[in-house]
Amino acid sequence: MSMYWIQYFAALVIISSSFVFHQSNAGKNCDVFQGSWVQDSSYPLYNSTSCPFIQKEFNCQKNGRSDNLYLKYRWQPHGCSLPRFDGVELLRRLKGKSIMFVGDSLSRNQWESLLCLLYTAVPGTKYTQATSGDVSTFTFTDYGVKLMLDRSVYLVDVVKEAKGRILKLDSIEGGKLWKGIDTLIFNTWHWWNRRGPKQPWDYIEVGGKYYKDMDRMVAFEEALNTWAKWVDTNIDPAKTKVFFQGISPSHYNGSSWNEPSAKSCVGQRYPVPGSTYPGGLPPAVSVVKKVLGTMKKPVQLLDITNLSLLRKDGHPSIYGLGGRTGMDCSHWCLAGVPDTWNQILYSLII
Ligand SMILES: *[C@@H]1O[C@H](CO)[C@@H](O)[C@H](O)[C@H]1NC(C)=O
Ligand SMILES: *[C@@H]1O[C@H](CO)[C@@H](O)[C@H](O)[C@H]1NC(C)=O
Ligand SMILES: *[C@@H]1O[C@H](CO)[C@@H](O)[C@H](O)[C@H]1NC(C)=O
Repeated sequence: MSMYWIQYFAALVIISSSFVFHQSNAGKNCDVFQGSWVQDSSYPLYNSTSCPFIQKEFNCQKNGRSDNLYLKYRWQPHGCSLPRFDGVELLRRLKGKSIMFVGDSLSRNQWESLLCLLYTAVPGTKYTQATSGDVSTFTFTDYGVKLMLDRSVYLVDVVKEAKGRILKLDSIEGGKLWKGIDTLIFNTWHWWNRRGPKQPWDYIEVGGKYYKDMDRMVAFEEALNTWAKWVDTNIDPAKTKVFFQGISPSHYNGSSWNEPSAKSCVGQRYPVPGSTYPGGLPPAVSVVKKVLGTMKKPVQLLDITNLSLLRKDGHPSIYGLGGRTGMDCSHWCLAGVPDTWNQILYSLII
């Protein structure tokens, strides 16, 4: 090879490596939500036995799950890499601040994941735990960081009246608990399709009218609009960062990952390879995106649906709350997929 070509290739290598370096700033030039799962033996980011705060529902290894390949995947966005999660760095950055997850048990899933990611970074650190009504607060006392969870499955209010329990699509009194928090991460979806004994309301009220029932997707959108108005009215973006967690998918039907013989997620040991989920997106995703698109205040969508759809192997299945008689293909094992949601959250906060 002539000297000219050697120099030419050397220049190419330098240009392309500086391009890679530039691209590693996740969130700036690349969509961190598009990518695929790659095996990485340096994962999981923590051992569940080192995190004493995982509830039974999510503690798959403790509940007897013996395969562990599902713990050894890292999310690899196309065109950039996520920074590795550094718990000490995040605690320093959040000093004196509060971060609150608001929503259903998927919010609890992500809250516990973040708790484990932070706690295992500073094991044995001083902390306090408190519960007040629907709000759980874990305080890292040495860092002055409050990690909070407000259980609010619909975000809008459910109120007991003479008629019964009323789901009020245009009332959001619960929002008083969210004021003054530095970072808010909202989520709601999984409860909107509940019927029968699992449905915690008797009537839906909207615009002063009561309904025995209505199209659940319409009700969901109405409630999200109420929430969006609350954010637009009450949030000062200079003080508070707002995220929406996005729709966390379930895996109860193997047809959606081209394995029709699979009646649930039980026995799934590997993610769907590649970047595309054969079953497509849950319809709730487009409702969330539509509502976020109407908002005046900045809200960042943690668009975790696609990456989570690929993880049919990440659920507790028979290693959750119900054990062998249960079948949980909605929540996620910890350690596991919500750690990646938090890694992305980290990349957007840091
Ligand atoms: C977690 O720690 C336990 C006890 O030290 C060990 O047996 C287990 O293999 C570890 N799990 C992983 C996934 O590293
Ligand atoms: C699973 O999905 C397929 C394809 O959409 C559908 O035909 C089938 O009825 C579904 N099975 C169950 C148990 O819902
Ligand atoms: C998400 O998945 C859907 C369905 O597989 C696909 O159509 C879409 O392009 C994906 N979006 C991203 C951002 O990867």
